[in-house]
Amino acid sequence: MSNAAKFGKVAVLFGGKSAERAVSLDSGQAVLDALLRSGVQAEAFDPQDRSVTELVGYDRAFIVLHGRGGEDGQIQGVLEWLNIPYTGTGVQGSAIGMDKVKTKQIWQGSDLPTAPYRIITKDTDLDPVIAELGLPVIIKPVHEGSSVGMSKVEKAEDFAAAIEKATQHDAVVMAEKWITGREFTISFLNGQPLPVIRLQPPADVAFYDYEAKYQRNDVEYGIPCGLTEAEEKSLQALCLRAFQAVGAEGWGRIDAMQDEQGNFWLLEVNTVPGMTSHSLVPKAAQAVGYNFDQLCVAILEQTLAKSA
Ligand SMILES: Nc1ncnc2c1ncn2[C@@H]1O[C@H](COP(=O)(O)OP(=O)(O)O)[C@@H](O)[C@H]1O
Ligand SMILES: [Mg+2]
Repeated sequence: MSNAAKFGKVAVLFGGKSAERAVSLDSGQAVLDALLRSGVQAEAFDPQDRSVTELVGYDRAFIVLHGRGGEDGQIQGVLEWLNIPYTGTGVQGSAIGMDKVKTKQIWQGSDLPTAPYRIITKDTDLDPVIAELGLPVIIKPVHEGSSVGMSKVEKAEDFAAAIEKATQHDAVVMAEKWITGREFTISFLNGQPLPVIRLQPPADVAFYDYEAKYQRNDVEYGIPCGLTEAEEKSLQALCLRAFQAVGAEGWGRIDAMQDEQGNFWLLEVNTVPGMTSHSLVPKAAQAVGYNFDQLCVAILEQTLAKSA
């Protein structure tokens, strides 16, 4: 790729301090290798080891930091101040996307379907929560990713342990109605939805948890996803509205489910999704003809418009 010089010196930001550091190290190394193979003058930059002031002098940044500090608007704000164009979503969309409750509030306000939920603490009176959400529910830390700190709760007496587990990761915890049905993920490139992927965790896990995501190789990825063409189109259209509603830009991913009645429910948006060669966005991009290297360059190209 002879015109890779147009990107100048690129900082690939990965690692960081969040609970998802290990995932980011994998994703970031894969992106760095892909950019180097494509002739881009790319360098690793781990904000855990270096001051962000050392970013001065880079022409642009490819953000592959997952979770807090990197996916929540903080590093985006630093880059704005330094006037360095960066990949993906801006400060506000990143901050909203990192907060599952704020995301849901925006979707609700935009008449987009998202699973019912309540913010809870160990002192919450559970009876009205169970009356509203039914059982089971899924307990989630509001600001985490990678299924960290989550549990499925089937009985009232199991709430306390699940809240305690989530609280170890986050001061704010939510209970969400359990959706029985099929899980899908919708990737975005250049602000547009790619083919839908169906995720099918193995039968012995309750949901697509951390282990299923990163430590097992028996999760099935359906692409094509098994929906009818009309259903897939309508899910893509729904997710495009959801992506735009939170202010997400460029690339990213939305997780959604379909209940047994056929209704779609939005779960969350990822503004810096996994980018190892076996991650979901690369799989979806491959279905429309992008290999991993081409995908990384396409994501980086978004920054050219910003620097104009
Ligand atoms: N309401 C729900 N009903 C059933 N399963 C869920 C629900 N919410 C999440 N899950 C399962 O938990 C996984 C992680 O939840 P998600 O909201 O995507 O958080 P994150 O990926 O940020 O950890 C999902 O991929 C899905 O398998
Ligand atoms: Mg998810």
